[in-house]
Amino acid sequence: MIDLQRLSSDQPIGVFDSGLGGLTVVRQILRLMPGEDVVYLGDSARVPYGIKSPETIRAFAHEDAAFLLRQNPKLIVVACNTASAVAMDSLRQAMPVEVVGVVEPAAQRAVELAAGRGIGVIGTEATITSGAYQRALHALNGGSEIMAAAAPLLVPIVEEGRPQEDPITTYVLTDYLHELQRKRPAVLILGCTHYPLLSLAIGKLMGPDTALLDPGEAVARRVQEFLRSHDLLAGRAAGQLQCYSTDNPERFSKLATRFLGRDVGQVKRIGTEELAKLSKPV
Ligand code: DGL
Repeated sequence: MIDLQRLSSDQPIGVFDSGLGGLTVVRQILRLMPGEDVVYLGDSARVPYGIKSPETIRAFAHEDAAFLLRQNPKLIVVACNTASAVAMDSLRQAMPVEVVGVVEPAAQRAVELAAGRGIGVIGTEATITSGAYQRALHALNGGSEIMAAAAPLLVPIVEEGRPQEDPITTYVLTDYLHELQRKRPAVLILGCTHYPLLSLAIGKLMGPDTALLDPGEAVARRVQEFLRSHDLLAGRAAGQLQCYSTDNPERFSKLATRFLGRDVGQVKRIGTEELAKLSKPV
């Protein structure tokens, strides 16, 4: 049961992802609401989630959320598309605070933008296999054609920092987008935290008739609506961001700037054994 009465606008927003990628969602949240404090957990020790089984992804997601709960958040954002695709229902049931995932807000925005025309979605293997985007789009949309493709190699390509015009990036994208290029959806959902960093290259291949949708923007708007309607928006001018990583905080800190668009400051480490312990009831 969520007790909104006990929440205050000063509490942070908790955000988790399988690694660094969710900082693209934090970037959108802070663009819209720069006054919010954010506590971010990246499960870098166990990334990628996108090739794991739904049971494993669900177990990890629950540990991540339980850690964030200890930070006293007013709301939790599941920035990871893979975790949102397979764990949203169980997280919502387990958490005593509002939990916002990326799939539903992004699907809603895609349907608005597409206005009955085709919608494409790309994501990790687990996201696409789960059918979560496809179900959400069908439920909201009722008519237009939905196309989905897994594009798993894009995650390491982005993490490696390959430029968008790099021949390897172009080669891999051309292969993954082949069918979608032919079908020309009106909207293409970039259904993985890392893909917004390839939007120029994807946009070039898809052409001007396909609008690219960054789920982070839709999530930030959803979070803002929720906080505003419950009088929980922070009043301060600039909030603080505290990042935790389950492994290698130095690497996290080095790569994070590309995802967040600015320095993340000092990153703290929280080991996965500690995370598992914290998620057990006391
Ligand atoms: N964060 C994941 C997602 O958005 C991508 C990386 C992974 O596979 O864990 O689906």
